[in-house]
Amino acid sequence: MKLTQEEQDMLDGRYGKATKKSMEILTTLGEIFDAECMVDVHGVQIAGVSYDNLGEAGLDFLSEMSEDGRVRVLTTLNPAGMDRENWQALGIDREFAKNQNRAIDAFAKMGIITTCSCTPYLIGNAPHYGQHIAWAESSAVCYSNSVIGARTNREGGPSALAAALIGKTPKYGYHLDENRHAQVLFKINAPVKGTDEFGVLGKIIGDKLVKLGKKIPYITGIPSATVEELKSFCASVATYGGTALFHMEEITPEYNKYPKPSNIVFEINQDDLDKTRAELTDDDIEIDFVSIGCPHASIHEIAKIANLLRGKTVKKEFWITTARPTKKIADEVGYSKIIEDAGAKFAADTCCVVAPIKERFKGIMVDSAKACYYGRAKNKFKVKIGSIEACVEEAIK
Ligand code: F3S
Repeated sequence: MKLTQEEQDMLDGRYGKATKKSMEILTTLGEIFDAECMVDVHGVQIAGVSYDNLGEAGLDFLSEMSEDGRVRVLTTLNPAGMDRENWQALGIDREFAKNQNRAIDAFAKMGIITTCSCTPYLIGNAPHYGQHIAWAESSAVCYSNSVIGARTNREGGPSALAAALIGKTPKYGYHLDENRHAQVLFKINAPVKGTDEFGVLGKIIGDKLVKLGKKIPYITGIPSATVEELKSFCASVATYGGTALFHMEEITPEYNKYPKPSNIVFEINQDDLDKTRAELTDDDIEIDFVSIGCPHASIHEIAKIANLLRGKTVKKEFWITTARPTKKIADEVGYSKIIEDAGAKFAADTCCVVAPIKERFKGIMVDSAKACYYGRAKNKFKVKIGSIEACVEEAIK
């Protein structure tokens, strides 16, 4: 890989230990993936923030990097294992909270904005079309590549941190035009509406891509989609298909930039949606937990929940997971009070997947196909998917 003089100096240790280590990580990645050079990134998003994932080994790495490492570009974090202000009310253990804060402090020392969210594009870490970034959270990677038209590979925790400390990433994969062409065409022959249904669609397409060994779908037949529907779709297709980029006709900005695939074509009908929705609900589920906000809830979604909960009382544990800046807007306009008066709880900075709540509940209802996957696989809950309205209905029942 060709390095500039400054990059070579960084690799040689002239800019300190953390910079050297970061360049080692990035050049190794570059060599593996045959990158010709590095490219400047305009922002970074780091995943693997929960102490549940980091453990002591991860914390040691962060403390070492934070000794002399300082970020060169705007950098935010993925959700942590707890709400940093409200962790006690959410039943998080004191020891876990102490360790989680040690990790956040190490990130802060490096100049990282310690806003913990999987929707950085909703809270100011937002690239524009064509910009190179280095993001790690799979749903956000899919959203930025596809819906915004920015360019990022799916970074791991260490490579995202390294990109933040250098301000660059090796130029390979989704940073290059030639790797952004769609490979499979999906024709949708049924109306798709709501975050839950877009999640169901993401699972169908994701599952099919895995079977085909392909990554980039081209989707037709969706006349319109909201930000919230697209973020749900991204989370789902990334979870079930490992997809980091899709093109959606008339909706995403690069849909007509590359040739439309014609050789592999699949049709998705109402039956397919119904069948997959049924797969996302377990038999004999006893719901004792409802959670909305995977990916993190937007202010639109919080407004909707507040309207549905006004004057009602929830009978089950009910979390709204969101970014803290979004929660602050909700506080200012009064949505938080309506929601909290009803007995529901905000879980800012975290979510129902990364929080250490394995086996704490029997059954969870969500509007997110991604949360269904991890609710089952990681937290050992039974799951049910439904619209936001149905989730609220379940919580107050
Ligand atoms: Fe975000 Fe947690 Fe879902 S990180 S995408 S809310 S699993």
